[in-house]
Amino acid sequence: MIDLRSDTVTKPTEEMRRAMAQAEVGDDVYGEDPTVNELERISAEMFGKEAALFVPSGTMGNQVSIMAHTQRGDEVILEADSHIFWYEVGALSVLSAVMPHPIKGRNGAMDPEDVRKAIRPKNIHFPRTSLIVIENTHNRSGGKVIPIENIKAIRNIAKEYDVSVHIDGARIFNASVASGIPVKEYAKYADSVMFCLSKGLCAPVGSLVVGEKQFIEKARKARKMLGGGMRQAGILAAAGIVALTKMVDRLKEDHDNAKFLATKLKEIGYMVNPEEVETNMVILETSNLSVDASRFVKIMEENGILSNTISESSIRLVTHKDVSRKDIEEALNIFEKLFRKFSR
Ligand SMILES: Cc1ncc(COP(=O)(O)O)c(C=O)c1O
Repeated sequence: MIDLRSDTVTKPTEEMRRAMAQAEVGDDVYGEDPTVNELERISAEMFGKEAALFVPSGTMGNQVSIMAHTQRGDEVILEADSHIFWYEVGALSVLSAVMPHPIKGRNGAMDPEDVRKAIRPKNIHFPRTSLIVIENTHNRSGGKVIPIENIKAIRNIAKEYDVSVHIDGARIFNASVASGIPVKEYAKYADSVMFCLSKGLCAPVGSLVVGEKQFIEKARKARKMLGGGMRQAGILAAAGIVALTKMVDRLKEDHDNAKFLATKLKEIGYMVNPEEVETNMVILETSNLSVDASRFVKIMEENGILSNTISESSIRLVTHKDVSRKDIEEALNIFEKLFRKFSR
């Protein structure tokens, strides 16, 4: 099977497994796990923030950040196609009792003036806007990099109204590798950033939240409340340290493979725009095929390729460490055969 469903399917490297086996550990809830402490130190330094917190998942990282930034009854501005709005089980309303205020963006980027308009004025009838979330790269837009100028402009507006900014940077290293902008620079325009070790960086588990000390203390308490205090978590953090220090530069390979895949799919006749491919995702539209997206995903699976739909007429293909250029070439042979059968 050629697995193009997600970069989350990547397996840990041999170096990660060795580091995990040899990790020095302690009780992290007591702050005594040296490997977790080291991972948090490296993360805070990389992002130019005072402190960091290791959490089991990107979802928990986003949710403890929302809990730490908001109060019950507040409103959170986010992009209408964001992961937090679509795929986190409505957690912000359940756990933090806040209301999402979705804004439709372009390629995942919200227009700063739309953000300004969405911030609630002081009025007894209105909730308080306390947080704006930016997702970079933007998953449902096909891994689009949010331009730094857009982030800066939103940050300036947020400052004007005393609203915090959180970046859901599950794939911020993909953004950084594609744009050449260091993650520290992105983080400069946010109060907090969540990033994942377990996607393109291939660690088996884990994400981090970075921010100022006081914010991280609140997030740590929220993590405990959610049952995310993990004791001898150094075993996991050890793989995370390898992910952060050894696996970032190779993301370029995934981006090159995605571009190659898109270019060749277009040559075959598929509705794919290689110009739109900025990181490790390719969006394939199915409206020139005789079957819809979910049926085509099934057909692809029967022929050896795994993928996911993102709508009734589009499929997402994700490149990562565990699909080589040779695998992509093999996938293209299958795609060619399928196009002959299913093109309209
Ligand atoms: C943009 C974004 N944010 C957050 C997450 C959540 O990460 P996790 O699956 O580790 O909870 C994902 C996962 O795919 C994501 O794509």
